[in-house]
Amino acid sequence: MNEPLVLGIETSCDETAIGIVRGRTLLANEIASSVEEHARFGGVVPEIASRAHLESIIPSIERALKAAKVNLNDLDAIGVTAGPGLVGALLVGTSSAAGLAQGLDIPLYGVNHLAAHISVDYLTHNLPVEPTIALLVSGGHSSLLQVDEITSSITKLGATMDDAAGEAFDKIARILDLGFPGGPAIDIDARSGRADAIDFPRGLTTSNDWAARPFDFSFSGLKTAVARYLESTPAYVRSDVAASFQEAVVDVLLLKALAACKDSGIDSLVIAGGVAANSRLRVVAQERCEKAGISLRIPAPGLCTDNGAMVAALTSLMASAGRTATAGAFDAQSSLPVEVVSLK
Ligand code: KG4
Ligand code: ZN
Repeated sequence: MNEPLVLGIETSCDETAIGIVRGRTLLANEIASSVEEHARFGGVVPEIASRAHLESIIPSIERALKAAKVNLNDLDAIGVTAGPGLVGALLVGTSSAAGLAQGLDIPLYGVNHLAAHISVDYLTHNLPVEPTIALLVSGGHSSLLQVDEITSSITKLGATMDDAAGEAFDKIARILDLGFPGGPAIDIDARSGRADAIDFPRGLTTSNDWAARPFDFSFSGLKTAVARYLESTPAYVRSDVAASFQEAVVDVLLLKALAACKDSGIDSLVIAGGVAANSRLRVVAQERCEKAGISLRIPAPGLCTDNGAMVAALTSLMASAGRTATAGAFDAQSSLPVEVVSLK
């Protein structure tokens, strides 16, 4: 299939998201979020998310088809996030996708949410990127990956040992009273603060860490340092704390990503996942990659956080590469490893 028309379904967390692509061209990207229903709990409540997916999935698919100006019968393939994610939420997507694919008699691909985050960049930059290093930073994951072929070969170089980067943003936003989700709120608040106001720790960057765990992350020490600072400084300036915290995260993410490029001899970096929408990360990444002679790709901010276009993009690449579709009905896998790009 050269330019397959693909519908992608994403329901791994709190977004019911449908994307439609033709080849590498984005035709529709519909997102219904239940984030406001979770806000008062300070995090995503799985039961609420599953129920919201059930209510939104059919209308979202209808809206996406309308926006793309295509009919169900025009579709060549369907892709759905098979994992990782909240199992009840994933099941709404996988069972809807299986029903649709069976009814339309077209191939179904159960794909990896993390690989999909990376592949959405292929909609923006239409040139081959592999091999590339990928820094994947979301609410549930922070990993450094080597991508030799996006549809078949992803190797994990390192990952967070405690919180994901997005989770750290969300937790610090909560203690700073900035609401949920915290990433966008800190991003905005930090713009009026000083990034060098407080020297917060960069996790796993001692010389021992560089020797033993060069590509792993840890954000728990940073979280504790921010909490201690707030306790010991009653008159703290919130935007300075936000900016200094953000700087510590951005600094360590890029130190390790660039080290992975250098170590592997790969001069290409893709940054993906919700935290890749962070404006400071985008600026500093551009500066450091230019200096190091590394070509940098970051999807448009609206395509960094969860969406259906990323699932459609990966599925389209899978179909074009002639990869085998996923057989029949399959189980959602809440902790699907990043190396498994799609289910057999
Ligand atoms: O990829 P994503 O939408 O969902 C997961 O797969 O987890 O990522 C969501 C995470 C949240 O933790 C959110 O706070 C963070 O991405 N995020 C940001 C920004 N926008 C979203 N973090 C920092 N700066 C942002 N602008
Ligand atoms: Zn995600």
